[in-house]
Amino acid sequence: MKKIVIAIDGWSSCGKSTLAKQLAKELGYIYIDSGAMYRAVTLYFLRNHVDWTNTSEVTEALTNINLQFKPNSVNGESEIYLNEENVEYVIRDMVVAEKVSEVAAIEEVRSFAVAEQQKMGAAKGIVMDGRDIGTTVFPDAELKIFMTADIAVRVERRFREMYSKNPNITIEEVKDNLEMRDYIDSHRKVSPLQKAADAIEINNTGLSPDEQLLLALKFIDKLIF
Ligand code: DC
Repeated sequence: MKKIVIAIDGWSSCGKSTLAKQLAKELGYIYIDSGAMYRAVTLYFLRNHVDWTNTSEVTEALTNINLQFKPNSVNGESEIYLNEENVEYVIRDMVVAEKVSEVAAIEEVRSFAVAEQQKMGAAKGIVMDGRDIGTTVFPDAELKIFMTADIAVRVERRFREMYSKNPNITIEEVKDNLEMRDYIDSHRKVSPLQKAADAIEINNTGLSPDEQLLLALKFIDKLIF
């Protein structure tokens, strides 16, 4: 069986990571959540009071950041480590969500993250999700998927996810944050979110996780056998 690179891009809360995790499990591939890398950098900047409007502070701070993915000992799912600390859960906090698109728009931050991501995918057998995976990180990926879903469905999904961790959160806060991030992600100067010309679009508004997996596997079968 041929090993390939699968790039999954799309708007926030479109089910990218659900599909990426399903595919990694099904194919025995490595799953990399590239958004977690931008979130971990944001967490580092917030904790260390890095002024990210100052390029030399950003460049200096990036030299002190080490990001790694390691499998969870119970379910095997990959989790992100920032300088050897597991930050998989803390990076999902609203405090990070509010700033991450701003940090992810910084050229130096993107070059840092993209270089790491390309190293991780060099041996293929990888599923990576994000916003610029098919356009910038792996422009030669064998399969590119661009995911979409109706905004109401996306807000509902993100709200349910966040409510379990923070019952004080409101649906309006979640909607505002999603819309703000979509806007910044698709309007930034460097690598804005856009569908690669050769990407397959999957709108999963009315699809169950099993249905979306089956659909993606149909495209993959043709590429690996
Ligand atoms: O997928 P996510 O919501 O965890 O991503 C967090 C933020 O990082 C999101 O606002 C967009 C940004 N991001 C990016 O710019 N490029 C990527 N490859 C992945 C995420």
